[in-house]
Amino acid sequence: MEEILRALEVSAVTLSKMLKVRLAGYSESNNASGDHVLKIDMKADLLFGDTLKKLKCVKGYVSEEQVEFVDVNKDANLIVAFDPLDGSSLVDSNLSIGSIFGIYDGTLSGDKLVCALYFIYGPRLEMVVASSKAKHYVYSEDKWQFIQDFNLESKGKLNSPGGTQQHWSKEHKALIDSFFAKGYRLRYSGGMVADLHQILCKKGGIFSYPATSDAKSGKLRILFEVFPFAFIYEKAGGFATNGKDRLLDIKVPSLHASTPCFFGSKEEMKEVSDVYR
Ligand code: AHG
Repeated sequence: MEEILRALEVSAVTLSKMLKVRLAGYSESNNASGDHVLKIDMKADLLFGDTLKKLKCVKGYVSEEQVEFVDVNKDANLIVAFDPLDGSSLVDSNLSIGSIFGIYDGTLSGDKLVCALYFIYGPRLEMVVASSKAKHYVYSEDKWQFIQDFNLESKGKLNSPGGTQQHWSKEHKALIDSFFAKGYRLRYSGGMVADLHQILCKKGGIFSYPATSDAKSGKLRILFEVFPFAFIYEKAGGFATNGKDRLLDIKVPSLHASTPCFFGSKEEMKEVSDVYR
């Protein structure tokens, strides 16, 4: 595991430098989920994929940018699922984006997730790694430096509501409005890494990406986006649900399946469950 973390840390520094100097442009291809892929997504996918292929402890990996599972060492145990560059549509507007990783022991299911991490490419390069705790680091003076363990309060003040409002259900709109009515402030960039990172830094709140009339299973992918953040939020003292069930308990129907998802501190997650149950 440590070998994977050290290797990803190096690759993230490389990607961070690439993001500072390269202009992103649209490519001709689509990714496995049908999104239009930016060139920089593919560069990030290649970078992290090549890194993982060199590691003896990696059984294989699955990337948001690739349709199939990639075998590495059949005798190894650890499987990495990753989104190499989440929020890439924000590259042109120079907003913060990130890379998300889940490390699974043998099987791609929530109960086999042993570590989750993300890198956030903003004014600074930062990393959050969760195995027993959710640990926050910054890359400064050519090395990774520990900042803090994240610990969410039982409730927060931020509301980060994903999806197009026109396609929300009435119940979901009422839920989101109820948080605003209680004084929660809107914080939504359109990149889940930055939005979820902000809630962790500010010690609480709610991020939601519900089922909508145009996306019945939501938008965010279980293996690359949802499970890693569900794991990180639980390790930070929060919770993550699909409205009915704990996210880390849900089944994974296919590599690229998505799910409705809610992340946050415990009181907000209880309110979500009260509405969705
Ligand atoms: P992309 O990588 O295509 O930019 O998508 C970003 C993801 C996620 O990071 C974010 O929370 C969500 O899509 C935003 O979607 P909406 O714009 O539909 O709210």
